[in-house]
Amino acid sequence: MSLKTSFARIAIAGAAAAFSVGAAFAQDYPAKPVTIIVPFAAGGPTDVAARIYGEYFSRTLGQQFVVENAAGAGGSTGTLRASRATPDGYTVFVHNVAPHVAGPALYASATYDPVKSFEPIGTLAFAAHYVVLRKDFPAKDLKEFLTFAKANPGKINYGSAGAGSATHLACVLLGQQTDISITHVPYRGTGPALNDLVAGTLDLMCDQGLNMMGQATAGTVKVLAIAQKTRFPGLSDVPTTAEAGLPGFEVSAATAMYVPAGTPAAATAKLVATMAAAYKDAGVRKRIQDLASEIPGPGQDTPAALGAFTKSEMERLTAAIKKGGVKAQ
Ligand code: MLT
Repeated sequence: MSLKTSFARIAIAGAAAAFSVGAAFAQDYPAKPVTIIVPFAAGGPTDVAARIYGEYFSRTLGQQFVVENAAGAGGSTGTLRASRATPDGYTVFVHNVAPHVAGPALYASATYDPVKSFEPIGTLAFAAHYVVLRKDFPAKDLKEFLTFAKANPGKINYGSAGAGSATHLACVLLGQQTDISITHVPYRGTGPALNDLVAGTLDLMCDQGLNMMGQATAGTVKVLAIAQKTRFPGLSDVPTTAEAGLPGFEVSAATAMYVPAGTPAAATAKLVATMAAAYKDAGVRKRIQDLASEIPGPGQDTPAALGAFTKSEMERLTAAIKKGGVKAQ
């Protein structure tokens, strides 16, 4: 046998071995529990969406998908951790797209690249923001609130999940569009911020339905408007921002799943297929829709669509952060 022939045989045997290892991985995956890193506190919208989908993934793939909350610095602490996780398919990452892409523009410690350090799996939910007050705030509607805010610059405090979070950026936009000066109070997630709004130590939040729907229906907070074009049937007495006198104030958040770059293609493919099946599951759909949020529709329901959205949001929000002088406190 010539040297050339034996090299060729070794190469074919190597490729066959690699193929069978890959095929075995694909068949067995997931062979142990999978960690879902959520970069905000438990009980907030990112956490809630991650748990709804996590339950479906656990049930369908036969291994537990366990949420781990790694909060701090507007979500960038957990994002950095997810970007550094071993890309073996056993760490997935659920984040809100706005803080995901805004982190590096705001925090020197956020040394990940929102696009290159991750691979997109799919969007979990789109959720409109609401303008929400503590229950006993002295304003009965959005007009009265804006009049009060103009007469009391800097006196109204609003809670968010930290600088660059979706709830922060939504209130920054509210302030810019209405020319009111409101004071930011950052938390480790909107779950704890909402607790303080209910307790009355915060005045305002620009919150997602995914977070505050329970409190809104229980009447423990005052919901002034939904920042989208249509009312939500579950809160049909809450006007749209246009109806409440603030046309053009429309803000929606997207919660999405990624994996660290370099995750085996077989794992990524299984996660993507499971996500596609979750979109069709009646239980997942109902739980998301009951929280005034939407499952991605045609054109939004692929990893490629999430990848393109992540990139365009990174460009848009990085420019807005620089222009608006938004700072991490
Ligand atoms: C945000 O960006 O405000 C997050 O969705 C907050 C959270 O999940 O707690």
